[in-house]
Parts: sequence; structure tokens; C-alpha cells
Amino acid sequence: MMPEKSFADWIYLDNAATSYPKPDCVYEAVDHYQRQNGRPVGRGATDAASAVQQIVDRCRFRAAQLLGAAAKEQIVFTFNCTDSLNLVLHGLLKARDHVVTTQAEHNSVLRPLRQLERTRGISTTFVEVDDFGFVDPQDVRAALRPETRLIVLQHASNVTGALQPVEDVGAIAREHGALYLVDAAQTAGHVPLNVTQTKADFVACSGHKGLLGPLGTGLLYVAPGHEHIVEPLRQGGTGSRSELDTQPDFMPDRYESGNHNAPGIVGLEAALGFLQKRTIDTIRQHELELSQLLFDQLQEISGLTVYSRQDRTQHTGVLSVTSELYASDELATLLSQHFQIDTRSGLHCAPGIHRRLGTLDRNGTVRLSLGWSSTREHIAAAVAALRAVTGG
Ligand SMILES: Cc1ncc(COP(=O)(O)O)c(C=O)c1O
Repeated sequence: MMPEKSFADWIYLDNAATSYPKPDCVYEAVDHYQRQNGRPVGRGATDAASAVQQIVDRCRFRAAQLLGAAAKEQIVFTFNCTDSLNLVLHGLLKARDHVVTTQAEHNSVLRPLRQLERTRGISTTFVEVDDFGFVDPQDVRAALRPETRLIVLQHASNVTGALQPVEDVGAIAREHGALYLVDAAQTAGHVPLNVTQTKADFVACSGHKGLLGPLGTGLLYVAPGHEHIVEPLRQGGTGSRSELDTQPDFMPDRYESGNHNAPGIVGLEAALGFLQKRTIDTIRQHELELSQLLFDQLQEISGLTVYSRQDRTQHTGVLSVTSELYASDELATLLSQHFQIDTRSGLHCAPGIHRRLGTLDRNGTVRLSLGWSSTREHIAAAVAALRAVTGG
């Protein structure tokens, strides 16, 4: 068999899709578990079963600490952020419920809501965002109705990196008595996030992006007691209360049916340990410095439009550009083929914000997204490549 081509030396600027590389400890933990243990989680009383169970418990505990949750049982393991969002939206919303969200959200929010409009008769208000993707909390307030059950807001845009005023909107949700779901796909592991400060009832995260775990991992924070209002989407074996033919009603088993993604969770546990040591503040500072550097230099390239405020403290390490010369797909292909640089072109599963930016009918943008392992050399290479390609 031909060995698969390696892309390990390429410059990876697509961390908003999934992080790469992962810290070494993640690869080592997954490899060790797969070869030396390989047992399922929560099934059986053997030493090996209890060893993997301990890692899973530790992962849940680390995730709770990272988000400022009071107990590890408030953390549910899912398969990605989409899975977490679907669990809340489908498990919670009923006929005639009204939802307030923004036009900048990802399809993993938009599509479940559209589906529920059709199948359950919910209604949704999509609040507009500004030229860089920021929502004004007062617009969220103005969209509220007596029957508003839920506000859904991304912590940051996956197209412009705009950091949304999640705490202000949390206060508005509380005041109104609406529930609040924060989509932290683009911030968990990149920017500090605390469920108490945010006043979030639910926080959905990817495990495989900023949290640096393997693909196929996600997390959902559920505030204490809310398991009584969110129906599980799947029922099945949990390894607990097996004498019952009904789903356990306690956390987190209520939402974790079937075998866990044990290799993924073991990797995520190692990743969360890495993040705790390095600290999210350090990672944020690192990504912020590089993203300001990238923005300052890209802005000087003629024929290139950068969709960002000058002050990158208001953004994550995600940045979008378009070129006068090339469609976004062409530009990303040129960067890949001639410079071995991975970016992401297109609409990034967020059509509403492209409509706002005026890039919906222009093949979207090219997104460059930084991560914990991005360097000044990566920035210099990306800027030089964009200069060369666009002649700017
Ligand atoms: C803002 C936002 N929400 C949700 C998702 C979905 O994440 P996942 O791929 O983990 O399902 C993404 C992924 O790109 C995202 O950027």
C-alpha cells in the first residue's frame, strides 16, 4: 500500500475548522489507550474499564473547570458542536416558542431552527449584524417577545472572528426570563469563557477546535436542573440503571446513550490538561498578537479587502479576505498548490453573514484562522504568498 501523502509540513491556517496539529500529548494518549486498553466506557467492573472511566471522569472535570461549571455532571459529551446545538434546540423547543438569534450564526444553528419552524411551528427572529459581524445587544432586546423562549448567540463569528457581547446579551436574557444558548465553537480554548459570568443556560463547544481534542468530540454545558426541560434526542444503553426500560433522568447519562467515543475523549482529556497548563489567557494573548500582525500587513496589500475592525482585541484569531483578482476558491487553491498554505474558502456554513458582508454571491471569502501553534513565520509566509498571488 502506498503511504498516504504527508501534509505535516504545510502551513495550517484553518484552525476554525479543526485545530491542527494537536499537542503531542493528545496523539500519545489516544495511541496508548487504543493499544493498551481499548475497553468501552462505563461498561463493566474490570481494572481496565475503571482505568478508562477515570480518564473520562477527569476529562469531564477539566471541561467543567475550564467553563467555570459548578459540577462535572453539567458537562455532556457529544460528537461535535453541531450535535450539542441540536440537542438543545430539538430537545427544548415546542410549538409557538419564539427564538431570537442573529444572521451571523452557523448553519448548525440556522438549519435546526428552520427545521423546527416547519415541523413544530416555532418562530425565529434573526437580528442583523454590522459590517464586521457584530451584534448590538439592544437589537437583541428589541427583538424579544413575551413568547421568546430562547436566545441563541455565537460567542464569535467563524467568518470575521467578531467577539459578540455575550455577557450583555446574557443579562438581557435573564431580565426577560428567556433561556440562553451560547455557541462557543469558535472560542472554547481560544478565549476565556465562564458560564456564570455569561449567564448561559447552555454552552455548546467543539472538542476538536480550540480545545485541541480529536475530531468527533464535542461538549455541552447544561445549567443545573435544565435536564428536566431538555428531552434527550437518543435513548439507549448508558451502563447505568440497566434494570429500567426508560432513559435515566440524571446527568449526564440522560444524554449519553450508546458507547462513548472513548479514543476521542481520552485525547480531549490530554488536550484539556495541556490547555490548563498553558492557560487560555496565554493562548489568547499569543493568537491576538499574531492576528493583529496579520491584519496590519494584509491591510497594506492593494486589491485585498480584509473584513475586520482595526482593533483585533474585538476579534478571535479568525480573519476573512477577498481579492479583486480571484474568486475565493481560486485564491485558496493557489495558496495551497503553490505555497502549501491551508486556508478555507467559501461561505463557511454561515450564509447570513456573507449576505451582510456582500460576499454571498461572490463565492464567499478566504478565511485564515490561527491557533495555539501558529507562528510569526506562518504569518510572514501567508502575507508573502498573498502579495505574490495578488500582485499587491
Ligand atoms: C460558530 C460555529 N458553530 C458551530 C460549528 C459546528 O462545529 P462542529 O464542526 O464541531 O459541529 C462551527 C464549526 O465550524 C462554528 O464555527
